[in-house]
Amino acid sequence: MTKYAYFHNEIVPIEQAKVSIMTNTFNYGTGCFGGIRGYWNEERQQLYVFRILDHYRRFLDSARVLLAQLDYTPASLAQITLDLLAKEGWTQNCYIRPIAYKAEESIAVKLHDLKDDVTIFSQPVGNYLPIQGISVGTSSWRRVDDTAIPARGKIIGSYANSALIKSEAQLNGYDDAIVLNQDGHISEGSAANFMMIRNGVLVTPPTSSNILEGITRRTIIELVQNEMGLPVQEREIDRSEAYLADEAFYCGTGAQVSPISSIDHRPIGTGKVGPLVTELQALYFRVVKGQEEKYMHWLTPVAQKVTA
Ligand SMILES: Cc1ncc(COP(=O)(O)O)c(C=O)c1O
Repeated sequence: MTKYAYFHNEIVPIEQAKVSIMTNTFNYGTGCFGGIRGYWNEERQQLYVFRILDHYRRFLDSARVLLAQLDYTPASLAQITLDLLAKEGWTQNCYIRPIAYKAEESIAVKLHDLKDDVTIFSQPVGNYLPIQGISVGTSSWRRVDDTAIPARGKIIGSYANSALIKSEAQLNGYDDAIVLNQDGHISEGSAANFMMIRNGVLVTPPTSSNILEGITRRTIIELVQNEMGLPVQEREIDRSEAYLADEAFYCGTGAQVSPISSIDHRPIGTGKVGPLVTELQALYFRVVKGQEEKYMHWLTPVAQKVTA
C-alpha cells in the first residue's frame, strides 16, 4: 500500500528504497529510528501528525549517541515527512518510520568514520495494542541497561531485547510484558512506557530506570496534571507495588493509552478498565485527532495531496 519513501535525499517510489546486504546497520543494528503517528480527522478531512518536532528532536538525540553525522534539523526532517505524506495522500491513520543508519557497506564493528544516511517511510496503522484492557506478565528478560545499550536512544539493535520480551509474553499467553531493569525495578513494556494510578497519584518510572523517554509519556504527564488535576510522581516502582495499583496502563505512539487489566494474573483494581484511565484515554484520543483546541499546537496538518 505504501507507494513512496524518502531515500538517498529524495522521495522515490518505495521499490527503489533498497539497501545492500553489506550495509553496516543491517549487519550490526548500529542505527536508530523513530515512530510517529498521523491521525486522520474524518470531519475535517485532514491528516494531523502528532508532536512531529519532538519526535525528530529525540531521533537526532539518538543519532548523536551513535556518533551519526547528519545534515538535518528537526524542522528539515519534519518538512521532508510532510512532503512525503502529502505525496502518499493517506486518508486514514498512519505510522511514520524514520531510520538513521550507517549506510557504509562495511563490516567494521564501530560507529565513527562511517557514512550515515536517513530514510523515511509511512504506512496505514491500527491499534498496536488492544485498547480495552490487556493482560501482562513480568518478563524473565531484563531491560537493556544504560551501561550496555542506552534505552533512551531508540537504537535498532536494542529492539532484539524488545522482541525477546514481546514473543516470550505472547507465547506465554499475555498481551505484553512488564520489564524489570537490572536493579529489579519496573522499566517499561516491550515498546511502551508504564504508568499506574495509586491512591490518586499517577506514578511512572523515572528516566533513569532504563526507559525510552517517551513523547506520549510526556504528553500524558501534562494532560493528567493540567486537565485531571492528579499529582504525578516519577519514581522507582517495585514489581509487587504494581500489583496494588488501582489502575495501570501503557502509553506510547503505538500503544496510545492501553489499559492493563491484570499483571501476573493479579487483577488490577476491579480487573475492569478504571474510571481515570477511561477518562484519560478519551482525552488522549481527542487531543491526537485535533478535537481539543488547547492542544492543537501538538499537531501539524499535512497539506492536501498535490496532483501535478
Ligand atoms: C521501548 C519503548 N518504550 C516506550 C515507547 C513509547 O515512546 P513514544 O511515546 O515516544 O512513542 C516506545 C515507542 O513507542 C518504545 O519502543
